[in-house]
Amino acid sequence: MEIFKDPALFQKRMLELKRAGKSIAIVPTMGYLHDGHASLIDNARPRADVLVVSIFVNPTQFGPTEDLQSYPRDFNRDCTICANHGTDIIFAPDAELMYAPDRSVWVEETCLSRGLCGKDRPTHFRGVTTVVAKLFLLSQADIAVFGQKDAQQALVIRRMVRDLNFPIEIVISPLIRDTDGVAMSSRNTYLSAAERERARILNQSLTAATAALRAGEPVEAVQQKTLSAITERADRVDYVAFLDSETLEPANAATGEILIALAAVFGHTRLIDNTLVRRPE
Ligand code: PAJ
Repeated sequence: MEIFKDPALFQKRMLELKRAGKSIAIVPTMGYLHDGHASLIDNARPRADVLVVSIFVNPTQFGPTEDLQSYPRDFNRDCTICANHGTDIIFAPDAELMYAPDRSVWVEETCLSRGLCGKDRPTHFRGVTTVVAKLFLLSQADIAVFGQKDAQQALVIRRMVRDLNFPIEIVISPLIRDTDGVAMSSRNTYLSAAERERARILNQSLTAATAALRAGEPVEAVQQKTLSAITERADRVDYVAFLDSETLEPANAATGEILIALAAVFGHTRLIDNTLVRRPE
C-alpha cells in the first residue's frame, strides 16, 4: 500500500497510473474508520484497477464552534483497516499542503445544500464540495463511492458533478448500523452509554415512520409522531424532515420516494440518520 501526504506527489502518481490505462476509484473519508467506511471500500474495490482511500479531517467543513480539534483520529488503525480491505493507495494530506494560506476559490452548491444540515451549519457544504472537487482532481478517479448515511451530502455531490461536468461516476452505498440500530459514525465515540441508549430512538422512529407511511397514514401525521418521539429522548432536535428524496422539497401525498432525515443532539453529540420510503402505488 502506498501512502501520500503531499498533494502534488499524489497527483503526479495518479496521472501516471491514469496514463498507463488504469481505472481509479476513490473513497473520501475523514478517518477514524468504522464498518460503515469499510463497506464503502468493499463496494469500491471491484469497480476499478486502483483503489484510493483519502483520510483528511477537512477544516473548511467545520464551523467555528464545531469539533475540528477534537475530531477523533487514529491513522495507524485506519491504515490497517484500509490494507485489510484491499486499498492500494492512501491519500492523507497535511492541511497546510491542501489549502494555500491565501486561497480564494470555493466550489458551492446553492440549492440542495441550503436546508437540513445547511441551516444549522451554513458553511459546511461549501467546505465539503470544495474538498471533494479537489480530491476528484487530485486522484483523477473514474468513480467515487459515498454513503447514504449522509443523504444530503450525496445529493449535493451528485449535483456538483452534474453541474460542473466532472468525468466521474458517483456510487451511493447503503447506510450501515451497529447491532443496537444506531447508525455508525466516527462521532459515536463521544456518546456516553446512557446517551447512546437514548440515541436508539432515531432508528426506532425511522422504523415506525416507515411502517406508518406504508400503511397509508398521511405524511403530516407521521411527521408529528416522529417529532414527538425524538423530542422526548433527545437533548435537542435540529430537524425531523419528510422530503422528496431527489429534490428535497417537502413530501406530500404525491411524492414517490420519501427521504426521512433526522438530526438531533444527545449530550454534546449531534447525530444524523435517515431512511428512504417508497410508498405503495
Ligand atoms: P466521513 O464522515 O468520514 O464519511 C466518509 C464516507 O463514509 C461518507 O461518504 C459517509 O456517508 C460514509 N459513511 C459514514 N458512516 C457511514 C455508515 N454508517 N454507513 C454507510 N456509509 C457511511 O463524509 C465525510 O467524511 C466528509 O464530508 C467527506 C466526504 C470525506 C469530505 O470531507
